[in-house]
Amino acid sequence: MRATHVLIEPMNEELWSAVDRYISDVLVGHDAVLDAVLEASDAAGLPQISVTPNQGKLLYLLARMRGARTILEIGTLAGYSTIWLGRALPPDGELITIEADPKHADVALANISRAGLPARVELRRGLALEVLPALASEGKGPFDFVFIDADKPNIPEYFGWAMKLTTQGSVIIVDNVVREGAIIDETSGDPSVRGVRRLNEVLAREKRVSATTIQTVGAKGYDGFTIALR
Ligand code: SAH
Ligand code: DHB
Ligand code: MG
Repeated sequence: MRATHVLIEPMNEELWSAVDRYISDVLVGHDAVLDAVLEASDAAGLPQISVTPNQGKLLYLLARMRGARTILEIGTLAGYSTIWLGRALPPDGELITIEADPKHADVALANISRAGLPARVELRRGLALEVLPALASEGKGPFDFVFIDADKPNIPEYFGWAMKLTTQGSVIIVDNVVREGAIIDETSGDPSVRGVRRLNEVLAREKRVSATTIQTVGAKGYDGFTIALR
């Protein structure tokens, strides 16, 4: 167990979850579709690693603030974040989400149709590093908004594709970039930590984007989002 984890967990995880529940109850609200989405995800044995309701609404709000008409998501899981993002789109908007695991993709498709979004949402099956070049060669994009939330060691490569598939004014969000504080360890051998640190090196020298990272606590622990504006 890492030191950060020993210090944080007994003190605060219960409180973070209680505050998340309170914020969800007061500001996010309950939604039969999203409840059913998570139930279907659990019933199928998928991992409980979707964004929280508060975070889902944050993604929705950011996409609306951007006025996003085209959204790209890398890492669908059960489609929970996909549905939040899909709901931010105007009627003629489009969302493409990429998922490598066939079982996750099956559960997500059922959930997306449960949410009444299929016309606006296209799920691409396959490894993101194969699907992204295919999207580029099909002339897809530019996307107004990109959510990167798949395997963490490849985050810098996904950011590179996001740059190819976006334009000035686009927003790129990356999930799970704080990792219980482990990202400050420059000697870390954890491939996910290394992926995030490589992203930060890219961001530090990438003149076309302005970015920051926000640490988050809540029902899914201590982590964070990187938010970049192109
Ligand atoms: N965005 C979702 C959670 C995604 S979890 C939500 O918040 O609701 C990460 C997902 O990325 C998993 O479903 C996993 O199967 C998928 N994934 C992992 N590696 C991948 C890859 N190389 N290409 C595409 N998807 C991948
Ligand atoms: C994992 C992936 C996620 O996108 C997340 O939010 C939490 C955990 C994981 O692969 O373990
Ligand atoms: Mg995530």
